[in-house]
Amino acid sequence: MTADTPALIVSGLTLGLARDRSARALVEDLSFDVAPGEMLAFVGESGSGKSLTAAAIFGLLPLGIRRMAGSICVNGTELTTLSDRRLRAWRGRDMGLIFQNPLTALSPSVGIQAQIAETYRAHKGGTRDAARLRARALLTEVGLQAVATPPDRYPHQLSGGMRQRVMIALALACDPALIIADEPTTALDVLIQAQILDLIARLQKERGLAVVFITHDLRLAARYADRILVLYAGRAVEEGDAGTFFTAPRHPYSRALRDAVPTIPATGRRLAEIPGQPPGPRDLFEGCRFAPRCPNVRDDCRRTEPAMTFDGTRFACLHPCVGTP
Ligand SMILES: Nc1ncnc2c1ncn2[C@@H]1O[C@H](COP(=O)(O)OP(=O)(O)OP(=O)(O)O)[C@@H](O)[C@H]1O
Ligand SMILES: [Mg+2]
Repeated sequence: MTADTPALIVSGLTLGLARDRSARALVEDLSFDVAPGEMLAFVGESGSGKSLTAAAIFGLLPLGIRRMAGSICVNGTELTTLSDRRLRAWRGRDMGLIFQNPLTALSPSVGIQAQIAETYRAHKGGTRDAARLRARALLTEVGLQAVATPPDRYPHQLSGGMRQRVMIALALACDPALIIADEPTTALDVLIQAQILDLIARLQKERGLAVVFITHDLRLAARYADRILVLYAGRAVEEGDAGTFFTAPRHPYSRALRDAVPTIPATGRRLAEIPGQPPGPRDLFEGCRFAPRCPNVRDDCRRTEPAMTFDGTRFACLHPCVGTP
């Protein structure tokens, strides 16, 4: 593999309800890749399939959800054909997951340094002392020098921001190629939020990590991501370089999302609202799924599901926005 080989390649990923074949797919024919050292942000309204995609990559789909089609390749290894045992070994070693609430990932009764050391030893072996040193170095790397000096601390003794740093150290324990951060800062105040994302961005660059950053917040995506992927009701509707995306989004949904973001200082511009709701899993429709809410809608949109096309960015729309507003 070369440095340009994507660390993550997802192609044709389709996820659905295992027992309800009449419902539409929850994630449909999703394809994207992420290179080492690159951050791809997933944005889209609640229920658009961001977390399910992350769960599928980790092989941790919730009960009742099944992968119907598609492949997931991390660092050259196809994950969808691995046995459960091999996938478990892979998961801790080559991929790290950071999510909103670190308390659900950390054991309350084991010191944090010991938790990191145990995770390291479970995957990499070696002596207890070596694992402890590794844990201490990781805690220092994520800015927890004080916590890295004995005595070991328990999760409840730390603030929310510090706990999220511990989770990042835990995710990095075995030197993974890929990190998925699913709304890692939603529960934190804005200053701590920026510190945590600065940390993730620094590690991404220094370690050449591929990062998938899942967020509702377009401002965070604009500030940190190299590329943006917009999901709408389970389908990718636009994907492109972050700079181009924010100056000239092509899909009307992307544009509406962008125009709904408040600015500081306030410009006096009225914030755009997107009327209506995305379709639920049991709402069936023909044509484009955004048509009922779309300002550019025409008759053909209600008949034909638009395919992804490439014109500077990738987008799926029959009547895309043109020019910069
Ligand atoms: N365990 C489950 N059983 C049934 N449906 C589910 C389950 N988990 C998610 N879904 C459905 O799958 C769709 C995608 O959910 P997902 O959690 O991926 O959304 P999301 O984009 O992460 O949203 P949010 O921004 O609220 O976190 C939603 O319609 C949701 O209702
Ligand atoms: Mg989610």
